[in-house]
Amino acid sequence: MSNQTLEATVDPELVNKWIEEIGSGVPAAVPLLQAIQGEYGYLPRDAMDLIIANSDINASQLFGVATFYAQFRMRPVGRHLVKVCHGTACHVRGADRLNTSLNHILNITDEEEDTASNGSYTVEDVACVGCCSIAPALVIDDDIIGNLSGADAQRVLKKHAKGCKEDLPGDTSKKKKAAQENSNEEARS
Ligand code: FES
Repeated sequence: MSNQTLEATVDPELVNKWIEEIGSGVPAAVPLLQAIQGEYGYLPRDAMDLIIANSDINASQLFGVATFYAQFRMRPVGRHLVKVCHGTACHVRGADRLNTSLNHILNITDEEEDTASNGSYTVEDVACVGCCSIAPALVIDDDIIGNLSGADAQRVLKKHAKGCKEDLPGDTSKKKKAAQENSNEEARS
């Protein structure tokens, strides 16, 4: 499954309602994009096209604003967000190792991708999250967790996934356990 399948289905009525309520001129670009991202978690191309077609904001103005501000995402986002802190303290204490371990257990192998193919988690790099004393740190949804090795990061994600009933596409230990249970089952029958 590619991230293509994670694209949101945009409701044109909703986007047109925002244009009516928020405005159709260039000053409305930021609040319109915020409304779209608030609804879909990122800026779906279909929603951008509707704004360009139904407002006075042209494509270069809208995409200019969308790419200028770091708050806006152009790619689909997973059901859960893992923010890996890459502020100075976390960076020097091994933030990269957290990314490597998380990408591994989520089977994110393409450098251009940051979301697991099943839409479960998105891994994003962020600036200092304000907990430098527990560097390296990450934030899963709203929980800040620190003092992590790469293995710890995987453990934390597995625990979170279990609580949310999410599958981790790269979690081979789960697959091995299932295969072992199957073979035990076959041996018994
Ligand atoms: S640098 Fe990571 S919490 Fe401050």
